[in-house]
Amino acid sequence: MRWTATTGDISKLKSDLIIIPLTSEKPKGLSALDKATGSGLTKAASLFKGKLETTHLVPGGRSGADWVLLVGLGKGEEVSVESIRRCAALAAKRAKTLKAGSCTLKLPVDALKDLDSSAIARCWVEGAELALFEAGLCKSKKEKAVVKSWKLVADKKSIAKLRAGLREGESYAAGSLVSRKLVTLPPNHLTPVKLAAEARKVAKTADLKCTVLGAAKLKQIGAGGIIGVGQGSVNESKLIILESKTKRKNAKSITLVGKGVTFDTGGISLKPGANMHEMKGDMGGAAAMLGAALIVSRLKMRVNLKVIIPAVENMPDGNAIKPGDVLKMLSGKTVEVLNTDAEGRLILADGLHLACKDKPDFVIDAATLTGACAIALGTQFAGTFSNSSVLAESIDKAGCDTFERSWPMPLTEEHHADIVSSVADIKNLGKRYGGASSAAAFLEEFVDEDVNWAHIDIAGPSWLDASLPYCAKGGSGFGARLIARTLQILTD
Ligand code: BES
Ligand code: ZN
Ligand code: ZN
Repeated sequence: MRWTATTGDISKLKSDLIIIPLTSEKPKGLSALDKATGSGLTKAASLFKGKLETTHLVPGGRSGADWVLLVGLGKGEEVSVESIRRCAALAAKRAKTLKAGSCTLKLPVDALKDLDSSAIARCWVEGAELALFEAGLCKSKKEKAVVKSWKLVADKKSIAKLRAGLREGESYAAGSLVSRKLVTLPPNHLTPVKLAAEARKVAKTADLKCTVLGAAKLKQIGAGGIIGVGQGSVNESKLIILESKTKRKNAKSITLVGKGVTFDTGGISLKPGANMHEMKGDMGGAAAMLGAALIVSRLKMRVNLKVIIPAVENMPDGNAIKPGDVLKMLSGKTVEVLNTDAEGRLILADGLHLACKDKPDFVIDAATLTGACAIALGTQFAGTFSNSSVLAESIDKAGCDTFERSWPMPLTEEHHADIVSSVADIKNLGKRYGGASSAAAFLEEFVDEDVNWAHIDIAGPSWLDASLPYCAKGGSGFGARLIARTLQILTD
């Protein structure tokens, strides 16, 4: 969708639909529109009280639009950026059913004094764009986009900030939608090779350098984790690396590592059949990092960015790894594989070791790593494990800002003790309890002690079993906005 801003009288602009988000207090500055609609807004006041996530439709009358849609934001002092996203989602979906190709919009910035006006615009764009995501990527008859353009009408004093907010929102939404598309794509369309091709596309639009290592090279360098997990699949494993250097001064170096298991059958430790198709989303961490890279580059953040994505398909096969096998990882450590379904940690181990090599200021990984984390925290929260309070606090704050929230999880010596092996250095399976933490401890074995690192387990929120206001059930694309915002906080 196209997002522009202009000054002037909203009642005079030509469009299919005028959208007016309102708090439950008496609105100001709408007398011209009220007049143009034959007191339509005044008449609506007895029915429409601005209650959160309610709408009311008023005929456009002599205004430049066919209809005026009032959208309730709730009590002014209670409005958050998240309620803005939800109302935008509601408005966008109504605009679609009203077949409105063009919308004009007036945001009540004066009634929302506690919120930054650019954040209001940013979150409106996010909510509207994300709500209209089409999951039917493989339908033979594609649905055509209905809502094509949004024009924000503002006064002279606020237009610059609102415009900046629109640009930011477009970037955040674009990154999030890339992630959502990738987790939604079927696993036969998104093999490791295809994921590398998608990464190349992102690299091209985001002006990043992209290097892809194939299986022969990975074997040669000794990436035993990636090679081991992928060796049961006919689809070749890849290691995808994206890089960008900023010209901005005092830039931080940050490396992102994303789990890219394009399908997780569990391998020889085969998963049960029910809902196994959801494991096409086991590259949600990779998707989040690619989406974040797009946002970071579009917003020209002060960061030297690297993204590392080990991409594999975890299949059972004559050539697949077996429980009991010992792998020698890229770092040289040896790992006893006790469950081939605990594959994410095996490929991330190589990715994290590589990430630490050039001693970046921060390393963050995101992974759909454990069912245990999803069971502990549900689908609304990711779990964060970190050896750095600065990093953990930034992720927490970014979670509140983006509503892609996470919760701090424990990672201690005891969790490391759980993964000591009798035949190799460590094993890829912990105790029955605390599975999210023993998985994190495994990852930490491959992180240099002097590197600030955080691991975000997104197994819960990356796949939704029920729809949310701006995210239909299925792959959510969770993480792209969270990671990008974290980088914005770390580098501002
Ligand atoms: N990809 C799964 C984790 C997962 C579960 C993601 C549910 C999303 C939703 C991961 O590879 C896995 O299978 N983990 C095992 C680890 C166990 C064998 C130690 C798990 O969580 O059961
Ligand atoms: Zn698994
Ligand atoms: Zn997995």
